[in-house]
Amino acid sequence: MERGQELYRRAKKRIPGGTQLLSKRPELFHPERWPPYYRRAKGVQVEDLDGRVFVDIAIHAVGACPLGYADPDVERAVIDVVRTGNMSSLNAPEEVELADLLCALHPWAGMVRYTRSGGEAMAVAVRIARAATGRDRIAFSGYHGWHDWYLSANLSDAGALDSHLLRGASPAGVPKTLAGTAVPFAFGDLSAVQGVVETYGQELAAIVIEPARYEVPPPGYLERVQELARRCGAVLVVDEITCGFRMQLGGFHLGLGIEPDIAVFAKAISNGYPMGVILGRREVMEAAQRSFISSTYWTDRIGPAAALATIAKLDRLNVPVQLAKAGERMREGWLEAAATSGLRVETTGLAPLPRFSFDHGDKSGVMRTLYTQFMLEEGYLAGPAFYASYAHEPAHIDAAVAATERSFVRLSKALESNSLDEQLQGELAGEGLARGARGKGRSKTKEPQPIANRN
Ligand SMILES: Cc1ncc(COP(=O)(O)O)c(C=O)c1O
Repeated sequence: MERGQELYRRAKKRIPGGTQLLSKRPELFHPERWPPYYRRAKGVQVEDLDGRVFVDIAIHAVGACPLGYADPDVERAVIDVVRTGNMSSLNAPEEVELADLLCALHPWAGMVRYTRSGGEAMAVAVRIARAATGRDRIAFSGYHGWHDWYLSANLSDAGALDSHLLRGASPAGVPKTLAGTAVPFAFGDLSAVQGVVETYGQELAAIVIEPARYEVPPPGYLERVQELARRCGAVLVVDEITCGFRMQLGGFHLGLGIEPDIAVFAKAISNGYPMGVILGRREVMEAAQRSFISSTYWTDRIGPAAALATIAKLDRLNVPVQLAKAGERMREGWLEAAATSGLRVETTGLAPLPRFSFDHGDKSGVMRTLYTQFMLEEGYLAGPAFYASYAHEPAHIDAAVAATERSFVRLSKALESNSLDEQLQGELAGEGLARGARGKGRSKTKEPQPIANRN
């Protein structure tokens, strides 16, 4: 057995669920063939524990490294910090430099707080909104992390989060008294958010939303959400953890004609080093002082130093434009490969984050797993979603498209000869929580749901 798979078996005995992040569970890609661990990562390449080197055209650290793995400029900034001391009794001056930069990029904002991960940054944003308004209830759309405020949505309705990228999440361990405090609404549907505001109006502390989900929202939608928030006195929180600094420098909302009260950033902002940002209007952010929001490792120096180096490079090289180009090229490549092989494929997703799915009914699940298996044989980490990075040069994408074409042709032949199941090594990949966290193997003929989320 491969060393990584062997280690993963041990991990599952020691670590509930095996990994710290749902999206890094091998079961989501290919239960038996996906390499669970890496030894080295650089640019677009990942070396596994057996010394095999793959080009990553899959989730690319779930979008945490828009410049590519171990970017030399960000590394340099981090190594400087390591040499001069990452932690002391005093504070890191980079915190202030970063705050000034973020406020300059977002003229509507006046103050900043920091965390070290996205979910906790969202929890801080919600706490500040509640402190600022004196209200409890949150209306939200989309995925915003693992914290109680969010998971509590599933206390009143076990399926409330199913359409928010977190299918099958159990609120076990979340106090039942939080039931009803987080109310979901469907993204992009104005009547849905209007309904929530009509029902709860004056009780809403915040309306929490991403600036875009899989697609850019319909024209006027975000402006209307902003108007509704202003009218009922709720804080408008825009979660930029996936879109921010990827769709454009700063928050994607900047180009969408809205000015939120709080915007939250993580992941893309610091290229692989932990950092979370809560950026907001001065009047709202000052409410943080009326609560207790404080943590030792929110003061480390690597986070803001990495963010400063990352933002400088994203800006200097106009990286968001390059990411969109790489993503679009990959999307086109999937469609070209589908046309060549005669497979039916559908694509969705924002330009730098395209996704595809097979449109072959109950065969689609086994085809997805088999696609990953064939691409692993070609030397690629590949699944149904691609997170573009600056390190994905056109030649990488072209080579990946050629490998995809070969894999699709193999799939097409297997489909024709009815040998998909026979060629699959092991079990099907499956849905996030249903498969990765607690589920047993799926039968090869049953179609799995799409990967549950992108956290
Ligand atoms: C929109 C959004 N919000 C929140 C989170 C949670 O961030 P983290 O995984 O850093 O806790 C994610 C992670 O993918 C995200 O995409």
